[in-house]
Amino acid sequence: MEKKSFQMANSIKPISLTPNFIVPEDKRPQLAHISPLASIPIIDLNDHVTSSLLQKISQACEEYGFFQVINHGVPEELCEKVMTAVTQFFELPPEERAEFFTEDLTKQVKLFNYYLKSEGQEKVTMWSELFSHPWHPFDDFTHLLPQNPPLYREAFAEYAKEIGGLMNRLLSLISQGLGLDKDCLRKRIGDNPRLRAQANFYPSCPDPELTLGLAVHTDLNALTVLQQSAGVTGLQVIKDGKWVAVDPIPNAFVINLGDQIQVLSNGRFKSVHHRAVTDKTHPRVSLAMFYGPNTEDVIGPVEDLIDGEHPPVYRSYRYAEFLEKFYSQEGTRRMVKELFELPK
Ligand code: OGA
Ligand code: NI
Repeated sequence: MEKKSFQMANSIKPISLTPNFIVPEDKRPQLAHISPLASIPIIDLNDHVTSSLLQKISQACEEYGFFQVINHGVPEELCEKVMTAVTQFFELPPEERAEFFTEDLTKQVKLFNYYLKSEGQEKVTMWSELFSHPWHPFDDFTHLLPQNPPLYREAFAEYAKEIGGLMNRLLSLISQGLGLDKDCLRKRIGDNPRLRAQANFYPSCPDPELTLGLAVHTDLNALTVLQQSAGVTGLQVIKDGKWVAVDPIPNAFVINLGDQIQVLSNGRFKSVHHRAVTDKTHPRVSLAMFYGPNTEDVIGPVEDLIDGEHPPVYRSYRYAEFLEKFYSQEGTRRMVKELFELPK
């Protein structure tokens, strides 16, 4: 098969391993050091809600902040359809994608790049292109989404509905895993959640040891449901100080907790560092669906989780304040929640 080279929407040439993509030595992925046997937990959502299922979920949330779900009920054909739509979008000629490109990360619909910025060093461009937009309430912004590929709007409308249902189920399981009412987290995140989708495209890369697809980060929202393309591994998460690869399993979603659940759970459940690395032969596509509070919502540790033994670790804040700190950290993906920790 002929290998097509990718051209970023803001570039005039096909992507190549120019110095702006090369990560400083101490930040390189060191792919030989990835634990080959370790993996994140797999949870079967077909199981009845029993204490054993809740136990598995709370253990995964405490120890990994990540798990994969199987038998989640979202139709396989729909998952394929939305991945096809996203892949076709990134296969459009760069000048067609360019109308969405922006450096203003506060835009609702945006195609953009991330950078790694380390002190005293030039910023490094991540080997990826990202497309981000809201996924709910769908009718409010459909007209802003791509008309090409023709499948895009329809696929997202259907997918958003299904993922909305799955998010609610997951939030209720995670609440119960904390020993809370099943509605607790959903209510705390608010009736008007901020729901965004982010499609990530990682072109194949001549030397994956020198680049990163996405720099180390935690997700700033509450919950992420990620679908990744089959057959290519790229996502890695930190477990006990080591990087563990999250191999795609067929018809599964990767679920991870964002910073807001770490704060709501008063630090018991973890929003864990992760990154994406590139692949030498295969491009990779992933689609993250984010669920987070709205800007006016106030987030802080749930009172029922606080007692003499468990004093509050974080102060409460308006989510707008959290976002402001996030966006003020130029280019990089940042660590924000530490700024809200209370003195010990
Ligand atoms: C993200 C993310 C990982 C991936 O979009 O926040 O971590 O595998 N993506 O693309
Ligand atoms: Ni992430």
